[in-house]
Amino acid sequence: MTMAFSRIWYIGLCSVLLLLHRGAEASHPIYMHLQSVQSTSAVDHQPYRTAYHFQPPQNWMNDPNGPMIYKGIYHLFYQYNPFGAVWGNIVWAHSTSTDLVNWVRHDPAIYPSEPFDIKGCWSGSATFLPGGKPAILYTGIDPQNRQVQNLAFPKNLSDPLLREWIKLAQNPLMAPINGINASSFRDPTTGWRGADGRWRVIIGSKRRRRGMAILYRSKDFIHWTKSQHPLHSSDNTGMWECPDFFPVSPNGKMGLDTSVINPGVKHVLKVSLDDTKHEYYTIGTYDPAKDQYSPDPGSVDNGSGLRYDYGKFYASKTFFDDSKKRRILWGWINESSSVADDVEKGWSGLQAIPRLLWLDSSGKQLVQWPIVEIEQLRGDQVNLANKEIKGGSVLEVSGITASQADIEVSFDLSKLEKAEVMNPSWVNPQLLCSKKGASVKGGIGPFGLLVLASKDMKEQTAIFFRVFKDGKRYVVLMCSDQSRSSLGKDIDKTSYGAFVDVDPLHEKLSLRTLIDHSIVESFGGQGKACITARVYPKLAIGNGAHLFAFNNGAESVKIASLSAWSMKRAHINEA
Ligand SMILES: *[C@@H]1O[C@H](CO)[C@@H](O)[C@H](O)[C@H]1NC(C)=O
Ligand SMILES: *[C@@H]1O[C@H](CO)[C@@H](O)[C@H](O)[C@H]1NC(C)=O
Ligand SMILES: *[C@@H]1O[C@H](CO)[C@@H](O)[C@H](O)[C@H]1NC(C)=O
Ligand SMILES: *[C@@H]1O[C@H](CO)[C@@H](O)[C@H](O)[C@H]1NC(C)=O
Repeated sequence: MTMAFSRIWYIGLCSVLLLLHRGAEASHPIYMHLQSVQSTSAVDHQPYRTAYHFQPPQNWMNDPNGPMIYKGIYHLFYQYNPFGAVWGNIVWAHSTSTDLVNWVRHDPAIYPSEPFDIKGCWSGSATFLPGGKPAILYTGIDPQNRQVQNLAFPKNLSDPLLREWIKLAQNPLMAPINGINASSFRDPTTGWRGADGRWRVIIGSKRRRRGMAILYRSKDFIHWTKSQHPLHSSDNTGMWECPDFFPVSPNGKMGLDTSVINPGVKHVLKVSLDDTKHEYYTIGTYDPAKDQYSPDPGSVDNGSGLRYDYGKFYASKTFFDDSKKRRILWGWINESSSVADDVEKGWSGLQAIPRLLWLDSSGKQLVQWPIVEIEQLRGDQVNLANKEIKGGSVLEVSGITASQADIEVSFDLSKLEKAEVMNPSWVNPQLLCSKKGASVKGGIGPFGLLVLASKDMKEQTAIFFRVFKDGKRYVVLMCSDQSRSSLGKDIDKTSYGAFVDVDPLHEKLSLRTLIDHSIVESFGGQGKACITARVYPKLAIGNGAHLFAFNNGAESVKIASLSAWSMKRAHINEA
């Protein structure tokens, strides 16, 4: 787009949106008076801006949308408020990359302009049609505040940056009729194509308390017919936002195109529960004849099920990276600070580092790992090996920039006799972590890392393990304890927790943590349990940040190996 065109777009959007936007809020709180308030502080040189996580230069960001690779260029669109640091005026902002690490920002790709999206352009997905033509299906908010599904195509298929998009005149292609709740009908998935040549997509919805993935079919991706039955539904789960449905290979890390259907593959259905603001997934079987999905026995399809991430991580979306035959996961990480703080700093929201995602060899859960490309940012490195940490001691790891780092550590636990006995009532790992924080002495553990810690450790975010004895087996708990993460006020300091399916008697227990000023992403057990936290230290900023390994258990633990790297700054959406 030319400068002149951008300015027309901006002025047009300003006047249209600020007047018209009202009431179509999904479940985001609306701060009408703040939607166009610009920050008073410069966005540069802020302690909580990240150096290698995806974020726009300023303002509000939420869901990742339509991730794809086209002609060798990665695309990320995202829900964005061009005018302020709170949710509102939502458009599809757009950035491209050749490596998923460094990003170039473009003008918004899709923004309110027609009756079928005049009150907002909400989340959606990209699908490649035969011949490699990308199509975007997204939710528009119409003048009656109804949620409808719209289609857009690139204006110029020769432009690898796909900067301009044309909305179909036939929009909306799916409307909330025949009993569909017009306020609970959104977030179309990437389409998949059956053996009959017809396309399928699902849309998140609910009927009373039953969350569901409404299924539509189409011969041409334009004319859509609703199926009698949803692809899947589950009672007492409330609204399903941002469903994602894709095949996974039964063995290995290789990803599959979304349309791959054969008896050899498993399928994953992920939903973002509006009620809990957490995401849950099941592993199961897709029956192409009945067009129905069934979770495997034992795979729980409600708020007691498996999560991608046991901290903050929402509205996620995967895509198949055909260039490297892998499936990559994007997820939105919101702030844990107050709205006043967000407005003051002028921005809100991050995207997690993209994660490779595959089925564990057990077939019972997924595994995630930061994409290998992020390792290009690794700079100065320090290593430790075969280092015992006695109970009640800490060990500083110095020589790297502790506020901007990547750490991989693995622990060897040879003696487990002192493990605390597991109580059968401890079924909720998050509650257990808040009861047994890093300062609560145990038998085997708590041991792990203190990150973004002040020199005196008054401020610290602890990511750690505890091992419990449960009859003949051992249970590994992983926690991210934010209770002492900041001396600041008005911050959500909830502790998060997950059980990690690792046998500590026969396997090393590993932890990888990515630290980036105000975000801590942790991967336990080689990616079997992930926890993402937001923290806002007052002392542990810049050179005031330190990194320690610690053990607060009765038994010593051995660091088999530890590598820590300073992380370089990536070029992300620079002006
Ligand atoms: C389409 O994009 C290509 C590549 O950027 C460019 O060379 C060409 O001029 C564009 N065509 C139009 C009609 O804008
Ligand atoms: C439709 O969904 C909205 C938003 O969740 C809810 O407030 C409303 O009660 C629902 N209407 C019906 C008829 O279920
Ligand atoms: C999920 O479903 C299981 C089995 O039906 C049930 O026992 C459990 O209480 C449910 N959990 C939630 C959070 O609804
Ligand atoms: C956003 O952050 C707040 C405060 O930590 C939390 O209560 C809420 O559930 C979060 N929402 C999402 C979608 O993560």
